[in-house]
Amino acid sequence: MSEQSLLQVRDLSASVEDLPILHNINLEIKAGETHVLMGPNGAGKSTLGYTLMGNPHYNVTKGQILFDGQDLTNESADKRAKAGMFLSFQNPLEVPGISLGSFVRNALHEQTGKPVKLLQYKKQLGEAMDLLTMDSEYADRDLNVGFSGGEKKKAEILQMLMLNPKLAILDETDSGLDVDAVRTVSKGIQEYQKKKDGALLIITHSTKILESLHVDYTHVLVKGHIVTTGDGSLVEEINEHGFEKYVRCEGCDGCSPLK
Ligand SMILES: Nc1ncnc2c1ncn2[C@@H]1O[C@H](COP(=O)(O)OP(=O)(O)O)[C@@H](O)[C@H]1O
Ligand SMILES: [Mg+2]
Repeated sequence: MSEQSLLQVRDLSASVEDLPILHNINLEIKAGETHVLMGPNGAGKSTLGYTLMGNPHYNVTKGQILFDGQDLTNESADKRAKAGMFLSFQNPLEVPGISLGSFVRNALHEQTGKPVKLLQYKKQLGEAMDLLTMDSEYADRDLNVGFSGGEKKKAEILQMLMLNPKLAILDETDSGLDVDAVRTVSKGIQEYQKKKDGALLIITHSTKILESLHVDYTHVLVKGHIVTTGDGSLVEEINEHGFEKYVRCEGCDGCSPLK
């Protein structure tokens, strides 16, 4: 594992529609590390994912996002993607008129700035689709249009494998999936973990997907605060006892992180 710090989130607070959601978040992810972010519904997990990725609806009110040696706090989502950040959406959007295959090829072209050779691309796409047990005909279908929940999530993992980002943020890629689909998605994530220095921030409130993945750090987010950080074993503890012990404080907007 490399010692190089890839993502540094420093004292980050963020709002949605002027509503403060995230409070003083500190997070450091090194190349090659897998971090898990857990927390109850509405804790602000997706907000953190969107804020890191630069979604314009989410405003940073304090702090910094440093990524691979650059300060990206005020940069566009596009610039962050080019720098090697990737976010898989909790609810992937349907994009009529653009096939899955073309979408990924365009994204690769955007990312590298170089033309993507068709034959090589098709081979690589086919291999990744095989790994994710996706029928090759899906490459020609409009992105996510008429895809089942599981197929949409597989399409997100496919994009991750093809784009090979430096940091992949996966927002509840496991939610709503049947047991087989969770296993397949997990296999895709393991494949990404095998590649050089790829780092992961896996956002989840279930633990199923983590059973076959190596986890370096687990963070618990409650009411917009990271209230505790531990190693992979914290996942087990939460699996057994839930979040109850971390959710003690009521209406504590702006208070210091819960102990
Ligand atoms: N676009 C938005 N507009 C208004 N409120 C939002 C928006 N996005 C998130 N929120 C609010 O921010 C809080 C955290 O939401 P979210 O980040 O989706 O939580 P989680 O992903 O942990 O379930 C919730 O109270 C939610 O209603
Ligand atoms: Mg969410």
